[in-house]
Amino acid sequence: MPASASPFDLSGRVALVTGGGRGIGLAIAQGLARAGAAIAVAEIDPARGQSAAATLQSAGHRAAFAPTDVTDPGSLEAAFDLAARDLGDVDILVNNAGISQRTPAEDYSREDLRRMVALNLDGVFFGMQILARRCIAARRPGAIVNLASFAGVVADPNSAPYAATKGAVVQLTRTCAVEWAPHGIRVNAIGPGYIRTEMTSPALGEPDTYAKILERTPLGRVGEPDDLAGAAVFLASDASRYVTGHVLMVDGGWTAI
Ligand SMILES: NC(=O)c1ccc[n+]([C@@H]2O[C@H](COP(=O)([O-])OP(=O)(O)OC[C@H]3O[C@@H](n4cnc5c(N)ncnc54)[C@H](O)[C@@H]3O)[C@@H](O)[C@H]2O)c1
Repeated sequence: MPASASPFDLSGRVALVTGGGRGIGLAIAQGLARAGAAIAVAEIDPARGQSAAATLQSAGHRAAFAPTDVTDPGSLEAAFDLAARDLGDVDILVNNAGISQRTPAEDYSREDLRRMVALNLDGVFFGMQILARRCIAARRPGAIVNLASFAGVVADPNSAPYAATKGAVVQLTRTCAVEWAPHGIRVNAIGPGYIRTEMTSPALGEPDTYAKILERTPLGRVGEPDDLAGAAVFLASDASRYVTGHVLMVDGGWTAI
């Protein structure tokens, strides 16, 4: 890296962002693109994926939409292939696609449990494996940024399976960081607090819940998707070259209490 270059510069890198069609994934994709990365939007919803790629392109960035269901390893492999063909080999993987569900633990159905684990845990692990296998085979470094949650480190009542999958993401992050460190692959996670997206709009739309969230958040506001962009650029770039196995909480102080 030239002495004058910013360690946050991602020029020449290719990032694949799962669930990049809206919300946190789209904001992270935009942040990585502003730092210079080309972006593969790996999204299950074609309209969202195409629109996100078009938004990035119209802002002057290199971007492509890769139709992807992260619960299907073959679909993820195809997304990595499409990115390699259109943008270059993927250096950065942001495992962002995920779902949440608020149901008392005793009422949770087995089908909903399987669906949650398939997306929030299996899908994250499949993506990590594919990036790692490709980087190891090509002897290239890589950076993985997983989306965990405050719910992965402290209790979040009425979302036990969600919290369990996010706790699992934290442990995948730490364990694979150690396994893949000799290959130059860094693995870190971001732990968001409450962020205003379609996922949280039902909870944030309830006045009592919203008031409780504000009261519980030291910084006194709900997060916006763009609040995650800086953390993602940091963890994807050489600015964090000596950081691996870390979970960076971006939660307004929620887990500091
Ligand atoms: N919003 C929050 O407050 C919050 C807090 C903590 C953690 N998170 C985590 O951040 C991530 C993004 O959350 P969000 O609020 O932006 O969610 P969101 O629902 O707004 O967006 C998720 C995106 O993922 C896509 N997606 C869903 N299933 C997919 C699949 N099988 N394959 C590929 N893409 C798929 C959706 O189409 C959507 O575009 C999730 O992992 C979530 O658990 C969110």
